[in-house]
Amino acid sequence: METGLAILKLSLCLSLVALSCAQAPARWKWNPAMGMRPGTCDHYECPTFKLAEAGYGYDLRVYDSAVWMSTAPISAPSMTQATKTGFQRLFSYIQGDNKNKTKMNMTAPVMTQATPGKSVYTVSFYLPKKNQQNPPLADDLHVQPWKPTYVAVRQFGGYASDDAAKKEAAALMDSLKGTEWIVAIEKSKGKSPEYLVADYNPPFQTTARVNEILVPFNM
Ligand SMILES: *[C@@H]1O[C@H](CO)[C@@H](O)[C@H](O)[C@H]1NC(C)=O
Ligand SMILES: *[C@@H]1O[C@H](CO)[C@@H](O)[C@H](O)[C@H]1NC(C)=O
Repeated sequence: METGLAILKLSLCLSLVALSCAQAPARWKWNPAMGMRPGTCDHYECPTFKLAEAGYGYDLRVYDSAVWMSTAPISAPSMTQATKTGFQRLFSYIQGDNKNKTKMNMTAPVMTQATPGKSVYTVSFYLPKKNQQNPPLADDLHVQPWKPTYVAVRQFGGYASDDAAKKEAAALMDSLKGTEWIVAIEKSKGKSPEYLVADYNPPFQTTARVNEILVPFNM
């Protein structure tokens, strides 16, 4: 009797274990928009990276070295406004408004960097590979080389408003708590930008928009 009960218990336990194994959730991501390849990258050149980890609520990427062209700091009442102003300047740059009158292809994304505590923003354009070696210069723009860079990323849809960016940046930092990356990220604070906002879509595109919050850090 006693033995029978024990066996029953054991088999119940085993079947529970089997059940919980069978029901272990697949790698589910908190943010359903994660892991999307922005559609813009089918038409335009985008910076390349290797995915180091697809985490819960974050992607960990290692970007290949690249060259970006950045505006001088732009004072604006909002990030959205600064992105517009910066983009106009960078767009005329690739249409030939540079010292060499060189035309370049459009790329994605356009990246905006906020300055903590200030309404000042830097907007950057990813240079096409063929222009990276010898980027045409312009008086009010500067070349920004990226070494291979570790970046924690969170994707989100809709329009990258100031509020959305702040909320998503906070969610990204939350999702990184307790991960193997957090120490390096904390250590890099102050040395690298708090976060960058990547816009992949032109403003007139209203659906299937992909934006990203990026937190670069040193490993
Ligand atoms: C733009 O990209 C196309 C296709 O890759 C290429 O053939 C063309 O030369 C590029 N134009 C410029 C100005 O770099
Ligand atoms: C731009 O012009 C300068 C001066 O003529 C030249 O040294 C440089 O190589 C040119 N750059 C490109 C990208 O053509």
